Amino acid sequence: MNVTWKLPEGGEISAEVANGLTLMEAAVANDVPGVIGECGGCLSCATCHVYVDEGWRDKVGGPGETEDVMLDMVAGERTDASRLSCQIETSEALDGLVLIVPAV
Ligand code: FES
Repeated sequence: MNVTWKLPEGGEISAEVANGLTLMEAAVANDVPGVIGECGGCLSCATCHVYVDEGWRDKVGGPGETEDVMLDMVAGERTDASRLSCQIETSEALDGLVLIVPAV
């Protein structure tokens, strides 16, 4: 699938990523600044915070219960578009996905 991360200082990174990864892993593999993934995806660091582009929110869905609690700890501003990207799996259904990296 193809995914694009829009960067807070302008510019964007687009990459073709394998299915079955998490979007945190995909971001780290593509050196997306601001998506760190410190805990490796076990929902304990909140450093993989992204905003899901408006047109994709229904498809991606909202956060789970534990993720929702962790989203209160993100460094940037939490909004309705906030997700922890280690909790979103890459798949063909999300081909073309656009994520926005929060400013911190
Ligand atoms: Fe730590 Fe997502 S990588 S919460």
